Amino acid sequence: MLSEQSAATVRATLPAVGASLGEITERFYSGMFAAHPELLRDLFNRGNQAVGTQRQALAGSIAAFATHLLDHPDRRPDAMLGRIAHKHASLGITPDQYAIVHEHLFAAIAGVLGEAVTPEVAAAWDEVYWLMANALIALEKRLHEERGGHRWRAWEVVERITETADVATFRLRPVDGGPVRAFRAGQYVSVRVALADGARQIRQYSLSGAPGPDERQFSVKRVREESAPDGEVSHHLHAQVRAGDVLELSEAYGDLVIDADTDTPLLLASAGIGVTPITAMLAHLAESGHRAPVTVVHGDRSPADHALRTDHEAFAAKLADATVHLWYEQDAPAGTRTGYVDLTPVPVVPGTRAYLCGPLPFMRAVREQLIAKGVAPADIHYEVFGPDLWLAKQD
Ligand SMILES: Cc1cc2nc3c(=O)[nH]c(=O)nc-3n(C[C@H](O)[C@H](O)[C@H](O)COP(=O)(O)OP(=O)(O)OC[C@H]3O[C@@H](n4cnc5c(N)ncnc54)[C@H](O)[C@@H]3O)c2cc1C
Ligand code: HEM
Repeated sequence: MLSEQSAATVRATLPAVGASLGEITERFYSGMFAAHPELLRDLFNRGNQAVGTQRQALAGSIAAFATHLLDHPDRRPDAMLGRIAHKHASLGITPDQYAIVHEHLFAAIAGVLGEAVTPEVAAAWDEVYWLMANALIALEKRLHEERGGHRWRAWEVVERITETADVATFRLRPVDGGPVRAFRAGQYVSVRVALADGARQIRQYSLSGAPGPDERQFSVKRVREESAPDGEVSHHLHAQVRAGDVLELSEAYGDLVIDADTDTPLLLASAGIGVTPITAMLAHLAESGHRAPVTVVHGDRSPADHALRTDHEAFAAKLADATVHLWYEQDAPAGTRTGYVDLTPVPVVPGTRAYLCGPLPFMRAVREQLIAKGVAPADIHYEVFGPDLWLAKQD
């Protein structure tokens, strides 16, 4: 909890800090990467840095945390902290790196706000930073302990499956032949690859099904847009990685996991490559004998673009009481609908808990429709395949 004196100072300076966050983060990252180029090369996502999304995420979360401390001094924003801690833990961030971020963040704040940063103001924001940092460090330590510590483990690709023109599934086994730790459906691994220029870049991929007990599987969509460079890691995986190659993976992390007994009605909604964690969830529900109704909702460009379609439908078919609703923008076959996902005709059982994964506009629309149908906002959980700016705004 923030001390009373610091709370008053943070309250008074939050608008000025908030208004300068863009400039502060700009200076912070330039300063930090100038002093530690290895952090940009081998830890931070260069693509996110180029488009600025991660910059907004870090700054936005500190401002959101400060606001939360002021508005609810007795409650920790656990959802926000948990999501960041899982991401950090999967990346192998260490406690000493928090001092590096602190040094460059506070140099940036002083540089931008100038004389307004009196010793009193600096001390108050220092308290906010370390409250958040220490909460994250503690959560990350626990996550590592639960997994026997952080390490990059070498995994051999035992099979590569072409799912669609743009999506490939990689099935892997640990090179050391050791046991594979169980994961919770919905979780992801961080994958670290060495690129042609010597950089090592890390991305997260959701575990996408129920492979054998000694395997892991994830499915990657090749990111390509007309007006921007190709996605670095997804292209590397598609272009370079075949059966017999070795990748470095973290253990499984992520807080979008099904937290429900077999009598809880569920709705699992995905769009595009967001199908990956949802397919793993369906596999888990089929295995665990889920009894209550499960509504499966998916939207895609066309049936040919619907990755993991066979598994998606086969796991749903194994459930005691599942209904599947599919939307395709084009080539919708009989029994499916044309256009974007629209839950208007879909019955939603009272007490339903929902799990969503897909592009933000899709999740926003589905969330609104679910709330209109009586689903409690607290029962709607989601995963964003990138820095979560949505959460910082909601929490
Ligand atoms: C929890 C989680 C789970 C995920 N699960 C999956 C999954 O199961 N399957 C999956 O396919 N993906 C998944 N992702 C997304 C994945 O981690 C990567 O973000 C994705 O593969 C893109 O990475 P990339 O290296 O190919 O693209 P990047 O190189 O990171 O590029 C990302 C975007 O930035 C743009 N960009 C890059 N540089 C510039 C520049 N200089 N100027 C303008 N624009 C630029 C690119 O055009 C691209 O659109 C997940 C993400 C998270 C956080
Ligand atoms: C109090 C301090 C910190 C805060 C508030 C913070 C906040 C965040 C947030 C909000 C995200 C995005 C999470 C998501 O939604 O996916 C993130 C990701 C990340 N953080 Fe931190 N962070 C802190 C410290 C650190 C430190 C010390 C490091 C290491 C030097 C670090 C490295 C990263 C990296 C590499 C990512 C992933 C971003 C990417 O790949 O682009 N963070 N952090």
